[in-house]
Amino acid sequence: MNRRLLLVLALAGCHPAAPLAPQALTTVTTLDTRRVVGVVELDGNTYIFDDGGVSVLRAGAVVARDDFGPAAPPSTIAAPTGDGRWVMSALRRVTTEGDSALVEPERFGLAPDATWSGVYGAGETTVATSAHALAVATDGHHVALYPHVTATEVAVARGRVALAGVDHVDVWDLAAGTSRAYPTGPAHVAFVDADSAHPRLAVWTPTRLVLEGADGALHPVAVPGPIASAVTSGARLWVLAAGHVAYLDRDAHALRQTAVDAARAERLFGSPVGDVWVASGGHLARYALGVPGGPDPTWVAQIAPVFARVCAKCHLPDGSAGVDLSTAAAWRTERLAIDQRVLLDRSMPPAGTDLSDGDRAAIAAWVGRK
Ligand code: HEC
Repeated sequence: MNRRLLLVLALAGCHPAAPLAPQALTTVTTLDTRRVVGVVELDGNTYIFDDGGVSVLRAGAVVARDDFGPAAPPSTIAAPTGDGRWVMSALRRVTTEGDSALVEPERFGLAPDATWSGVYGAGETTVATSAHALAVATDGHHVALYPHVTATEVAVARGRVALAGVDHVDVWDLAAGTSRAYPTGPAHVAFVDADSAHPRLAVWTPTRLVLEGADGALHPVAVPGPIASAVTSGARLWVLAAGHVAYLDRDAHALRQTAVDAARAERLFGSPVGDVWVASGGHLARYALGVPGGPDPTWVAQIAPVFARVCAKCHLPDGSAGVDLSTAAAWRTERLAIDQRVLLDRSMPPAGTDLSDGDRAAIAAWVGRK
């Protein structure tokens, strides 16, 4: 039993929140949907899973749809083939080809008699859940089966798994082969920085939120009211509480309230670049931190010099690349593609043009992948 967590959970409920000035958000995408169960982003595509199937978005527009039926909460996992990541909704894999979405069953050699209701991934760690067992792969393809291990909610980080049960949260350290139980009562779990060397556990109930610090201890975070939903986006934790959307960045200690009108908001979904998706009824909107349309001092100070030095020769408005990246607005629109091409697969700038580590770090900070 970990009495410390019990204590901080109890304390966290008592502190009134002291919100900072509301932070403006930029609306990146809005669309009308069915009831959304999850959103994942991969390779410049956004996959929106709902109670009827999946829609695929590119640059804010729906390019493909498959009505396979009610979707399970989706995730991306390390491809068992060792090549990139796959988009999964339970044992369904979704890919795109031109303007159609392909939905195919993928069993990973798991017993066909069990119903695997969830598949979750971060880094090379993949976890599948059924009503009777848990399956874990830490290298993308060797599966260890844990019979009789079940959870009401699962969160996965690189090398770690958090299992929420009826009255406690179990956290497994897969490399060390150890586990730790926290007596939380019914709680939700997530990892901040899930796909990093230092993932941090977040646990919340409707009235309390605790976050693992860099020191490994769990720290209470004051919340402005009952938490309806919380989600992690890279290094950022988003919280929907008392009709407000607020966030906490890595190393911050207090939630920062945003100016989003969240009176009707029901649920949040994360984005690997730090944005947040807000679902209200049949409406879904994606927000990024920053001031809409206004001059963006951060972009001017940190990105404009890199753009001028490295990208401008191809990415001016009429440049040879055919993609204008000369403004902060264009960088916001192309943010996922920039993250993918420049930081993840490093196919931009093309061979022959160098990008220094310092420039790459500036771009990483700007897209939210610190
Ligand atoms: C030597 C020319 C050249 C340079 C320099 C260059 N690019 Fe590109 N870029 C291209 C071309 C050509 C394309 C379109 C073909 C492709 O996608 O590979 C492209 C495509 C892209 C795309 C994909 C856009 C989309 O919507 O699919 C991104 C993002 C991008 N570049 C970012 C950058 C960034 C950021 C820099 C500077 C750090 C940069 N590029 C430097 C030539 C260049």
